[in-house]
Amino acid sequence: MKLIRTKNYEEMSRTAADKLINEVKSHPQAIIGLATGDTPVGTYEELIRDHNQYGTSYTQVYTVNLDEYIGLDQNDSNSYKSFMQTHLFHAIDLPENQAFLPNSMAADIEEACRQYDEKIRQLGGVDLQVLGIGQNGHIGFNEPGSSFAMTTHVVELTDNTRKANARFFKQLEDVPTHAITMGIKNILESRHVLLLASGHNKAEAVAKLLASKQPDEHFPASALYLHPRVTVIADEEALVLVNEQERRAF
Ligand code: PGA
Repeated sequence: MKLIRTKNYEEMSRTAADKLINEVKSHPQAIIGLATGDTPVGTYEELIRDHNQYGTSYTQVYTVNLDEYIGLDQNDSNSYKSFMQTHLFHAIDLPENQAFLPNSMAADIEEACRQYDEKIRQLGGVDLQVLGIGQNGHIGFNEPGSSFAMTTHVVELTDNTRKANARFFKQLEDVPTHAITMGIKNILESRHVLLLASGHNKAEAVAKLLASKQPDEHFPASALYLHPRVTVIADEEALVLVNEQERRAF
């Protein structure tokens, strides 16, 4: 695991975007794993800026998102499909039929999970996977206790996660109770993982991740110790509980 320290959210976003842009430039048919949430928004803004200024093209890129809520139509403004449309897809030249999210409106959700794994396999696997981290250490919607052997599956969201996400909804009751998420196994199969963390509210999770060193299913992000190529990009606020000596160990 490699740690890149940045001053603030803006520098974290630029650093992450540079990695994505390099991937796409050196490998125009890259398969990129995308995440939603506040953390990657600045990264996506940087991708858009670069696309407009320097013309980095996504016409041959395929994207697969980590997760999607169950029970929200993809056109619902709170669906992750809408999130991606608003924050990235509308402003780059990625063809619509090359951007995938789990089909959470399928009549047969279990089958939709299998199809998503199959889609990732057919594409040849994910080259670069962007991740955020939950305050409880979740990655995607893999909550504490999730088996690291899981592929795409249905999860019941924890109260903490629903409360953390309620800010996007009118009221807590409107936050879906279930989602489809790629499993930890999918994440570990990607060729390179980029985990982004910014702000004081991620400090405990980041400190726990860097201290854990061992995979432990009670803390999902620790699965990344099973992966040979993980880059954590964290800003000063997210690293506030990690001392200099611990930082240097990465
Ligand atoms: P956030 O969510 O980027 O909105 O903090 C990250 C996550 O919960 O994985």
